[in-house]
Amino acid sequence: MFFYCKRLNKHINRTADEKMFDSLLQPVTLGPTRLRNRIFNPPHGTTLGRQGVVTDDLIAYHLARARGGVGLIIMESMTVHPSYGFEEAFLYAGSDRIVEGLNRLALGCREQGTPVFGQLFHAGRGVRLSHDGSRPLSYSASDMPDERYRVVPVPMPNDMVWELIESYVDAAGRLADAELDGVEILASMGYLIAQFLNPQTNLRDDEFGGKLDNRMRFLREVLNRSRQRIGSDKTLGIRITLDEKTGKGMPAEEMIRVCQALEADGNVDYFSVISGSSSAPDGWIHVFPPMSVAPGFVADDAARLKQAVSKPVLVAGRINQPQLAAQIVDAGKADMVGLARALIADPEFIDKMAQGRAEDIRACVGCNQACVGHRLAHYPVSCIQNPASGRERQLGEPRPAARRRRVLVVGGGPAGMKAAAVAAERGHDVELHEKQTVLGGQVNLAAALPGRAEFGGVSTNLQRELERAGVDVRLNSAVDQSVLDKFAPDRVVVATGAVTRLPEVEVDGCDMVDAWSVIRGEARPGRNVVIADWSCDWSGLGVAERLAREGHYVRLLSGGSVAGESIQAIVRDQWIGVLHGLGVEMIPFARFHGASAGSAFFEHMTSGEAIVCEAVDTVVSCFAARASRDCDWIDSIDGLEVSRIGDALAPRSVEEAVLEAVRLAVEI
Ligand SMILES: Cc1cc2nc3c(=O)[nH]c(=O)nc-3n(C[C@H](O)[C@H](O)[C@H](O)COP(=O)(O)O)c2cc1C
Ligand code: SF4
Repeated sequence: MFFYCKRLNKHINRTADEKMFDSLLQPVTLGPTRLRNRIFNPPHGTTLGRQGVVTDDLIAYHLARARGGVGLIIMESMTVHPSYGFEEAFLYAGSDRIVEGLNRLALGCREQGTPVFGQLFHAGRGVRLSHDGSRPLSYSASDMPDERYRVVPVPMPNDMVWELIESYVDAAGRLADAELDGVEILASMGYLIAQFLNPQTNLRDDEFGGKLDNRMRFLREVLNRSRQRIGSDKTLGIRITLDEKTGKGMPAEEMIRVCQALEADGNVDYFSVISGSSSAPDGWIHVFPPMSVAPGFVADDAARLKQAVSKPVLVAGRINQPQLAAQIVDAGKADMVGLARALIADPEFIDKMAQGRAEDIRACVGCNQACVGHRLAHYPVSCIQNPASGRERQLGEPRPAARRRRVLVVGGGPAGMKAAAVAAERGHDVELHEKQTVLGGQVNLAAALPGRAEFGGVSTNLQRELERAGVDVRLNSAVDQSVLDKFAPDRVVVATGAVTRLPEVEVDGCDMVDAWSVIRGEARPGRNVVIADWSCDWSGLGVAERLAREGHYVRLLSGGSVAGESIQAIVRDQWIGVLHGLGVEMIPFARFHGASAGSAFFEHMTSGEAIVCEAVDTVVSCFAARASRDCDWIDSIDGLEVSRIGDALAPRSVEEAVLEAVRLAVEI
């Protein structure tokens, strides 16, 4: 069956698989705004704004998603009031300075067929930022502290609540003045408006506290007045949470009653459902759900709300495959599905899906490293698999090579694969040699750990990129002079990764093995295991989990303030919860000194006191890997340009390997 694709200006043969996505590609209307399809890009802080206003980098970021075919962009949270301004981290809609850049962004995306909404936000007590290093006052409905930042807020004086409401309304007006198509009020994830709604965080006795009608007054006033300010030709929606995934969350039944009451008021055009809360670690894990959280885990909440209201319901949360997105819409669980990280990983997700190239989608693997990790550390968002994300203006569209060259890539880990794919895409003649029988390098190790199989997607995605780019891949091929003679490269890229090593300490009376050999199944630890975790990354946590699940007694002694200190905090926190449940003993700040007669010796890294672990059968070492020197001989060949990238330069993570690969490959 053929259909005409306007974007490609040609007829496309549609198979049954492609028709699977038809429902997603149907237009939908949110209030006065008509959208070309049912996929939206949910709000996500990018750290691409500067001093509260839109930058060219932020415009380029959103244009890439609009060009990729997304139906709607809901921009990142914008703050509305000086009590939670933080213009270094957020766009600030409390000032007219926001209007000009927003307008350019909105018009640019509209030209690509994608309307843009803006989201308005105040964190209330959830303050982790500072203007000068001192902790600023935080304001909430009451003085109930949270469990994440351990902040005791000031109960907001009554006149300040009214001032805040006006700030939201003024900010909504600025979004309308900037010609955005709609405004979303964030009333979810335990932030300020949710703190007013929740009876456990709102203990007020004025008109904003007590019965539900009073607790929802803040939100209702914001919506009613915003509607008057922006008029009926703009969409007005709210983001809500039905399940905060923490003990002190707002009950779902009450939130549904709030939605019904707001719908009856007639000002809300849609409800966007998400899960989790900023107020506690368990809730927070679900705001940025890592790969341990089931794909599409919010869909049933959306379905529940959909039964109770008649306006469109939107949902997001670990939707990273087009098949899952289609199932949610087909099952009538939601009217639209949101892809935040999925579009960070692949801005062309929707076009690929629509063109019958779903297998080309670079699926997000839920590692949180370069997206959430960067955002929470105040750097621009990116993706470990797609460094052009957040760097659109530098790496977005690699230009075709000026001169076709013969590029030999040595090593088939993420660095080598990415360098080869990008170089070939630009028109070079590329051969990739991997001495193992499979591609993937350390990704295969990480993916072999319990609950981490999805990480293997990094390798699968890159293999697809190699195929598409036409790279000649040679497995089981250690590069030697004969390979060089035969291929006669103009350029060699050494991406041979890292090799494991053991610390230089004395160990007797028990075994010492390295973590990688345990993961590969080559080493078989005894029952009582001590993990000497210098690296504080996935290897210590993962090996601890694997061995504890197999019945070993595991002690994890880490060389940082917490196990997993080097990986993204949400992934780490969730993992530590798993280890706790498995009975793994965790000791921080432990420097390994060796083992003797069945005891392993550590020193506390701040107090200097001895930590002795007795009755040890095996020490598993997670020590610093070493850059592979396999191809040092190539460096000395006269006249051959050789570059070294990724772990072969210095062991780090997939993120740096892939980034260095792209930076190199766009310059060849
Ligand atoms: C880097 C990042 C920043 C985010 N910032 C916001 C935000 O400003 N406002 C908001 O409502 N949600 C925010 N979120 C949550 C997303 O909108 C979305 O609900 C969440 O990422 C789950 O969807 P996903 O699995 O498609 O990524 C953010 C998510 C990410 C990854
Ligand atoms: S960094 Fe990881 S979680 Fe973030 S978008 Fe990329 S693959 Fe997804």
